[in-house]
Amino acid sequence: MTPDDEDLRPYFDAAAQNLTFNSPLGAARAADLVERLAPPTPDAHVLDLGCGSGELLLRLCERHGLAGDGVDRAPADLERARQRARTRGLGDRVAFHEGDATTWDTTATVVLNVGAGHIWGSAPAALTALHRRTEAGGRLLFGDGVYDAEPDAAVREVFGDLPDLAGLARAATDAGFRVLHAAASSQAEWDDFESDWRAGIERLGTPGARAFSDQRRDEYLGGYRGVVGFAWLVLTPA
Ligand SMILES: C[S@@+](CC[C@H](N)C(=O)[O-])C[C@H]1O[C@@H](n2cnc3c(N)ncnc32)[C@H](O)[C@@H]1O
Repeated sequence: MTPDDEDLRPYFDAAAQNLTFNSPLGAARAADLVERLAPPTPDAHVLDLGCGSGELLLRLCERHGLAGDGVDRAPADLERARQRARTRGLGDRVAFHEGDATTWDTTATVVLNVGAGHIWGSAPAALTALHRRTEAGGRLLFGDGVYDAEPDAAVREVFGDLPDLAGLARAATDAGFRVLHAAASSQAEWDDFESDWRAGIERLGTPGARAFSDQRRDEYLGGYRGVVGFAWLVLTPA
């Protein structure tokens, strides 16, 4: 069950529409990350690859007076991002581009990649690619799935081979980063994310939407809750 299944696309779009962040990220952690990502120079530029609706990019640029670019391939998410930018008076400083993040070739002082490491196929491949996009002395925020506990066969089939938090930090080091901060989303952040995600689908009000939402709830509560975690790494090129 992935957003690449065209039949399911309307459900994934409806879910995203209801979210502030399309990842298990609560307000307190978002504020903390925005402070941790304060750039070394005031003229720093931010690049968010797989930005979705752009909320973290916008908060970072707003807080530190920065300019930035967000790249995503989902037009509906990008339109929401542009609307958010205009509403907050950031329309002239933060631009959102439709495209494949793997082909984006500029660098930035602060690079964000949250819930979108799969774009490069695996976390190690993503970290290697993102190292090339992160300027010396800069920061990369890498947020991605990890296993907090041994998955059963059904969970592994959906989520594949994920590292644990320590393994992800090692992959970052192997890709040429120093790890400045390593943390994981709390169970409460996951529970809120899952229920907000399902609420967007339920709003469609069709039997199919309700059945899809119920299926996701069962898969979460009876399967990957407490097993699939979400790691947050703040990294700098070594
Ligand atoms: C789980 S969402 C995370 C969005 C955002 N970073 C956030 O945390 O709210 C993953 C995003 O990656 C985007 N994506 C997937 N493949 C992509 C690609 N090849 N190029 C650009 N964006 C892509 C999706 O459209 C989606 O918005």
